Amino acid sequence: MSARIIDGVAIAARIREQLAEEAQAFIKRTRVRPGLVVILVGDNPASQVYVRSKRKACLDLGWYSDVIHLPADATQERLEETIDKLNADPMVHGILLQLPLPDHLNEQGLLQRIRPEKDVDGFHPINVGKLVLGLPAPVPCTPLGIQRLLIEEHIETAGKFVVVLGRSNIVGKPVASLLMRKGSGGDATVCVCHSRSENLSSITRQADILIAAVGRPRFVKAGWIKPGATVIDVGINRVNDPDSPRGYRLVGDVDFEGAKAVAGAITPVPGGVGPMTIAMLLHNTLWCAKNLSA
Ligand SMILES: NC(=O)c1ccc[n+]([C@@H]2O[C@H](COP(=O)([O-])OP(=O)(O)OC[C@H]3O[C@@H](n4cnc5c(N)ncnc54)[C@H](OP(=O)(O)O)[C@@H]3O)[C@@H](O)[C@H]2O)c1
Repeated sequence: MSARIIDGVAIAARIREQLAEEAQAFIKRTRVRPGLVVILVGDNPASQVYVRSKRKACLDLGWYSDVIHLPADATQERLEETIDKLNADPMVHGILLQLPLPDHLNEQGLLQRIRPEKDVDGFHPINVGKLVLGLPAPVPCTPLGIQRLLIEEHIETAGKFVVVLGRSNIVGKPVASLLMRKGSGGDATVCVCHSRSENLSSITRQADILIAAVGRPRFVKAGWIKPGATVIDVGINRVNDPDSPRGYRLVGDVDFEGAKAVAGAITPVPGGVGPMTIAMLLHNTLWCAKNLSA
């Protein structure tokens, strides 16, 4: 048996087309163009790539988008002023603070400075609380993208046993909250594992849906997977590859070659969850624009 490979690129492209149409109708009705501004601090090469693709995704749809690039030694006050200006700017509906930040900055303090109504990443405590309570709010993009992939692929979550590897605020915790919510793409029985969890492989082998977000290359082995299960690989890890012109290549948190012989469906890396994250950022930007204009 070989698993169905879930094509995140194609699904994300379809969603972007739908969002483009939805946005056109919104712009025609309100004369408001959705706007996203990304704040980038320092010169982390991976962050620069992510930020460029986020901006391009907005511009491709004809939305307003900008990147504010601050030096690595920018002060907390400088960032607070930047966020305050964006909070007050009517052209801007979404503010994204690209993580990770340099160590001297207080990340939580800055995330909490962003108006919850413009928090397209869904990281503000008010929006985290709303997610847990099942209230409407921007939901973190990667978890939302994972849920949407499952819905688009007609993979049932209701009553299914979902194991999430990783308990980060960005992926693990919010995806667990989302999949246990009532309604479409939810109603799952969710188990969250982390670095202190014991007997990991005996837990993962019970999963109907296994979501790996640990940040360790090829961590999940074929023998950890229940035959026929759905495997969602969130990991993006650089591994050395002298044959690649860049000297490295990207691999996920799952041993893809081994896992695809056991799983029923699996996301590749790259081309699985990654494109969905950007599509959901566009979704959240439009969502915020609509709410702010209501
Ligand atoms: N596709 C996308 O768009 C996207 C978006 C975001 C992140 N990512 C990728 O997804 C991965 C995870 O990201 P993240 O931000 O969630 O990472 P993170 O903040 O580093 O969290 C990693 C989690 O994995 C757990 N973990 C680490 N080693 C483990 C082990 N040996 N056994 C069990 N659990 C272990 C950690 O446990 P503790 O809590 O106990 O330390 C932690 O909860 C990274 O590769 C990242 O690049 C991809």
